[in-house]
Amino acid sequence: MNTKKVCMQFSISPKSLRIYEDLDIIVPNREENNYRNYNEDDILKLRQLILLKEMGIPLKNIKQLLAKKFDEDKIIHGLDLQLKVVDNKINELENIKITLEQSVNEALNSDGVTDYSDYFNKIDRCLSDNKEIRSNWMDKWGFDSWAKSYDDSVKKNVGDDLNLFENYDFVLESVSKLICKYKARKVIDIGCGTANLYGKIDNNIDFTGVDQSIEMLLKAKAKYPNINLRLGNFLDEPFIKNEFDVVTSTFAFHHLNFVEKQKALKLLLCYLKPGGIIIIADLMFLGHKERIKQKQYLLEKGRKDLWVIIEDEYYTDIEKIKDYAEQLGCKVKYEHIVNFTWILLLENR
Ligand SMILES: C[S@@+](CC[C@H](N)C(=O)[O-])C[C@H]1O[C@@H](n2cnc3c(N)ncnc32)[C@H](O)[C@@H]1O
Repeated sequence: MNTKKVCMQFSISPKSLRIYEDLDIIVPNREENNYRNYNEDDILKLRQLILLKEMGIPLKNIKQLLAKKFDEDKIIHGLDLQLKVVDNKINELENIKITLEQSVNEALNSDGVTDYSDYFNKIDRCLSDNKEIRSNWMDKWGFDSWAKSYDDSVKKNVGDDLNLFENYDFVLESVSKLICKYKARKVIDIGCGTANLYGKIDNNIDFTGVDQSIEMLLKAKAKYPNINLRLGNFLDEPFIKNEFDVVTSTFAFHHLNFVEKQKALKLLLCYLKPGGIIIIADLMFLGHKERIKQKQYLLEKGRKDLWVIIEDEYYTDIEKIKDYAEQLGCKVKYEHIVNFTWILLLENR
């Protein structure tokens, strides 16, 4: 596509295109007559650039974002990048909104002389927090980077001194047996990663995998092209309600803190048909006592480093989550599988 057509299609000026070229962001090939010819890749980049600019991302950051080269699934990666930017912008605005609301309400209710600098400092802090979040939002939890080596690392326990993935296959097989026991025909797996659970279940089961990492999902798609996959989060409003016999989640629930876990359980129940069940296989402690016992054990062994790894995540406290799930009307069962891994069963009554 030549410069004139590009400018018309995207309502931008030749001068803008020249700037993107000078900055090495979009550099089209030249024809024999030296005219620019924008190929499919250039157009895809330009589409992304326009949205990112609209979102207020500076050109120097856009350049970094668009520099990553993808041989496959370019469109999905491009759309995912834009989605992440928009999502991040919403979060930033939400943070600012909450800070402003709090400040207005505090100011309204303060008696005596109001020192407004306090409120402005709060906003400044909020803006600088946002800046920090912005610097690492692309792959907040590192799952995109892990996707490539994930299957190997869980199967071979690479770099896993705590043996968190000990008997990984056995754990997934145990979940599969439960799915079978409950005669489930429709299953949704949240935090599905590369869809290893699907590899363990009867392939006639209608399976949907949900994950927040696009790279994990693309791995899953490459392995099992026919399953339903969705980009999503435990904390998203369910995209469909009362549809599934079973909700599963393996090795993912510990990424949520307790408040998020509570919110997630409520949302996960909405996916279920009446009488359906939630099966969570994950890293857990039976309760606070067990947690402290484990901490002491590792500290006495001189392995504070391993305790730090545990504390960096949110292993479920079974007793606490059981209480909460019972309040939601669930019947709760749990079983120890291996090491830190337990299976929690919540029956929706
Ligand atoms: C350790 S992997 C487990 C993957 C898979 N379930 C398995 O058993 O191999 C954790 C997965 O949870 C996903 N995850 C983490 N937090 C999430 C969230 N809040 N919503 C959805 N997925 C999440 C990650 O992207 C990652 O794919």
